[in-house]
Amino acid sequence: MNIEEYIRVVPDFPKKGISYKDITPLLQNYSAVEECLFQFEKKLGDKKIDKVIGIESRGFFFATLLAQRLKAGFVPIRKAGKLPYLTEQESYSLEYGQDLLEIHQDALKKGEHVLLHDDVLATGGTAEAACNLIEKLGGEIIQCNFLIELSFLEGRKKLVDKEIVSLIEY
Ligand code: PRP
Ligand code: MG
Repeated sequence: MNIEEYIRVVPDFPKKGISYKDITPLLQNYSAVEECLFQFEKKLGDKKIDKVIGIESRGFFFATLLAQRLKAGFVPIRKAGKLPYLTEQESYSLEYGQDLLEIHQDALKKGEHVLLHDDVLATGGTAEAACNLIEKLGGEIIQCNFLIELSFLEGRKKLVDKEIVSLIEY
């Protein structure tokens, strides 16, 4: 099965010049989702994971499925102001200005093995901030995985010391 066929490329969304990679057709298809989970598991190999961490919002879809599959816990990294308990915060750059990501302070124990997941690796700013949050809590990042990598944006350069896996590259 070619999972790339289930990604809908929408030109000029959310604004002119941006070619949006819509994963909703993939999510609608049970077999395509199964195939992605299979490929992620295969690329992880026998590495043990304690927590799968997903980045709000599109990272949540697969992160929860992966956590259950790997018999690991799930932890959300959310945009500012959404998490109710004590948080660590990290800022990251948007096209115009900055925003904040947060994680609950008690989400990880020191030394826990973490798999970070998001749907897309673009400039890498979001994933970099997420990695900083995980490391602030003492988590050990075993792998960062993404459904889609926009390799022309060179997001990997922001995650130099990390193991990075992506299933589809543009
Ligand atoms: C998108 C995407 C990644 C991030 C990648 O999320 O889902 O999380 O951008 O971009 P970067 O590598 O350049 O940082 P977005 O912030 O649009 O929010 P959403 O997931 O809630 O739709
Ligand atoms: Mg996102």
